[in-house]
Amino acid sequence: MANTAVCYTSKYGASKKTAERIAREAGAELYDISADNCPDLDAYDVLVLGCGLYMGKPNKIMKKFIDRNRNQLNHKNLIFYVHGLISENQYNKCVNDILDVEERNIFYLGGTLDRKQLSGITKVMMKQIAKENGLDPDHPDNLNSGQMEALLKRVKEYQS
Ligand SMILES: Cc1cc2nc3c(=O)[nH]c(=O)nc-3n(C[C@H](O)[C@H](O)[C@H](O)COP(=O)(O)O)c2cc1C
Repeated sequence: MANTAVCYTSKYGASKKTAERIAREAGAELYDISADNCPDLDAYDVLVLGCGLYMGKPNKIMKKFIDRNRNQLNHKNLIFYVHGLISENQYNKCVNDILDVEERNIFYLGGTLDRKQLSGITKVMMKQIAKENGLDPDHPDNLNSGQMEALLKRVKEYQS
């Protein structure tokens, strides 16, 4: 079976939970890149990258990770998942702006958030955004389990 790593960063826990599920169900090794936990990418045949979208872009920590490792990443089987509450129509572009990934290997999994995790202006802004998008303002959640299954399936296809 191909060696697989999941490199993720997660502000509020969605991408972390997904990474842990991939590790559990597909036997992948787990790296939290926000903890400067950079694996030796050469040791892996399949790399899964995952993070949340913020202000229409992937989490900045992911962008930095990609910039540091671009040469190696360009020679890997790459799968990219993003969590987001509102960017379903532009997630491919959000990812391709920072890294070339085949469209069929980019998965938009929806998002989740607990308003209690937020403070100040962000709290107010997210309440408004949730309302405008028909989501629960206190706990917006539009996680897409079908896409999650499709992502797991794709990882396993690359491994076999
Ligand atoms: C300040 C802020 C900005 C956000 N911007 C976006 C956005 O541009 N597009 C989107 O789809 N979701 C956006 N979200 C929602 C998050 O992407 C979503 O909650 C996701 O599940 C977070 O993933 P993480 O916890 O792994 O970081 C935003 C959330 C916050 C708090």
